Amino acid sequence: MVELEELEGVGPAIAEKLREAGYDSVESIAVTTTGELIDAAEVGMRVAVNVINAAREASHMGYERATEVLERRKRLGHITTGSPALDKIIGGGAETQGITEMYGEFGSGKSQVAHQLCVSVQLPLEQGGLDGKAIYIDTENTFRPERITQMARAVGLDPERALEGIYVARAHTTDHQMLLAEKAAEIAKNDGVRLVVVDSVTSLFRVEYCGRGALAERQQKLGRHIAALHKLAELNDLAVFVTNQVQSRPDVFFGDPTRPVGGHVLGHAMTARVYLRKSKANTRTAHLVDHPGLPPEKATFQIVEAGIRD
Ligand code: GTP
Ligand code: MG
Repeated sequence: MVELEELEGVGPAIAEKLREAGYDSVESIAVTTTGELIDAAEVGMRVAVNVINAAREASHMGYERATEVLERRKRLGHITTGSPALDKIIGGGAETQGITEMYGEFGSGKSQVAHQLCVSVQLPLEQGGLDGKAIYIDTENTFRPERITQMARAVGLDPERALEGIYVARAHTTDHQMLLAEKAAEIAKNDGVRLVVVDSVTSLFRVEYCGRGALAERQQKLGRHIAALHKLAELNDLAVFVTNQVQSRPDVFFGDPTRPVGGHVLGHAMTARVYLRKSKANTRTAHLVDHPGLPPEKATFQIVEAGIRD
């Protein structure tokens, strides 16, 4: 680990400013933008550019061989959704260092999958977990500890300990939601968190920025939030799982007239994007859309008392 003071051009005063603004590692500076650094740490343009370049140099953020990329990808962790079929279409479960999004209408099972992942992540590696803890940012007041208890019992985890392993926060506004994502970074660093859930990532943005006039501002802020979640995932080697609603498109006459909220701002930032649909009774279908390395396959799963299953 390289300390901030070891970067060229960073004296004790600037290091102090950076730390106060939350940039406590060279890596966190390396992945930021000059604009962000200027705003957050109140430094000038030239200092920001120099510091970021030095941080990138120090954390080896240039080119590398594809073999090294492959090696790194092999080390990514995966958290089981509880359904091997669903895991398979997303490449083995919710992946660390990336964001998995599931979107769909009400009752399609988004929050149920989120609960299941919070239990699964606490399992040992051999059972599809990462031996880690979870953070649940709840914007719709849908987190249910009772459900965690049920799911934990079903996989042989002590329910009490499973609940202990989940940090829950209720977000009330978009600013609050973004602050909680920052706080998640602090907890993640100190307490072995391998999963961060945001359920739902867009609902508060929809409420606060409604109408056409607010759209551009909403998209910009949402983009910043997603970028922060990405950093969180990459810097802490954890999986981010977000849920999202659908909105109907009045201009579509053929095919499915719904699409996820947030449009391209969200879509392009996702590692895996899955569309959930209600089928018969407790059966759901999942459809992988837009994945950089996997075919657009479908899977069906069930929501049962034990949780998510094939
Ligand atoms: P919104 O947040 O409203 O958009 O929906 P969602 O996609 O998050 O839906 P959610 O994950 O909350 O799924 C709710 C569905 O899960 C219910 O309709 C139930 O069918 C099912 N479900 C929830 N708990 C249980 C349970 O204990 N047993 C069974 N069998 N099904 C359950
Ligand atoms: Mg929900």
